[in-house]
Amino acid sequence: MARNKIALIGSGMIGGTLAHMIGLKELGDVVMFDIAEGIPQGKGLDIAQSSPVEGFDARVTGVNDYSGIEGADVCIVTAGVPRKPGMSRDDLLGINLKVMEQVGAGIKKYAPKAFVICITNPLDAMVWALQKFSGLPKSHVVGMAGVLDSARFRYFLAEEFKVSVEDVTAFVLGGHGDTMVPLTRYSTVAGIPLPDLVKMGWTSKEKLEKIVQRTRDGGAEIVGLLKTGSAYYAPAASGIQMAEAYLRDKKRVLPCAAYLSGQYGVKDMYVGVPTVIGAGGVERVIEIDLNGAEQKMFDKSVESVAALCDACIGIAPNLG
Ligand code: APR
Repeated sequence: MARNKIALIGSGMIGGTLAHMIGLKELGDVVMFDIAEGIPQGKGLDIAQSSPVEGFDARVTGVNDYSGIEGADVCIVTAGVPRKPGMSRDDLLGINLKVMEQVGAGIKKYAPKAFVICITNPLDAMVWALQKFSGLPKSHVVGMAGVLDSARFRYFLAEEFKVSVEDVTAFVLGGHGDTMVPLTRYSTVAGIPLPDLVKMGWTSKEKLEKIVQRTRDGGAEIVGLLKTGSAYYAPAASGIQMAEAYLRDKKRVLPCAAYLSGQYGVKDMYVGVPTVIGAGGVERVIEIDLNGAEQKMFDKSVESVAALCDACIGIAPNLG
């Protein structure tokens, strides 16, 4: 059987890390695309030259023309600009929306059967625009945010409890931004919900609130430290988990920015919700019951995503 073909649209920091991880995991052959000439070719060759040492078989090539992504099974989109210190994800909107228009046209023409994972920020608005620009089925265009946000939450919780990250599960809903909703009562250590752990004296409510806030600010913390760009190792790992769930039909339950057509009372928007990802793309959106306070936080998050989508329509009226 031929190997899967994975196209990386954008070959910057996240794109390069994605290509390396795909090789190490032998998920398929990689085509790196970028508008910058030489960058995808150079990174592709460098990664390919690591394959004899690491012992993986994958072709890793670079292109500057969309024809190179023809027939891709999966496209992972990181094209655009990242944040600099002091910028919010939303500040990227105008530039990255234009990039999504080009990317959408390229995917529509050359890889219309692909499963498309968008990572470009501001995520929830960019994935929404990318679906519209590409015209691909909504089940096959999804945004990466929840896996990353919950990974940050899990890491901080594991540190606090001094337990393995593997035994911590976390649940994060809503948009990928300051209004994201980390749900403590659905987050657990080996099945024990966080509120119970507070009762058991493992942590305090105040400490948990600090961890929740640090999770919300997780991206900004790294931007502040790096100064020249935003996070890339954890975002790439999160994108890979979603690609793997699709390619291997794992039917993983993963929080993703998925298209909502009435679920959670939201229509024609992408917002972070728990989904099942398998060979059919987003096979299911899981609707959980929210309590009053959670619903309020979720609604606020949805409002901020809606405002970004409106701003997109202001720039590109054909999205309306
Ligand atoms: N088409 C294709 N590639 C493009 C385009 C375009 N129109 N415009 C820019 N690019 C490329 C750049 O040349 C660069 O190589 O996108 C790449 C982006 O890489 P980085 O600047 O290193 O950014 P990265 O850290 O990978 O983040 C990419 O993901 O998490 C988000 O906020 C982040 O929106 C940002 C994106």
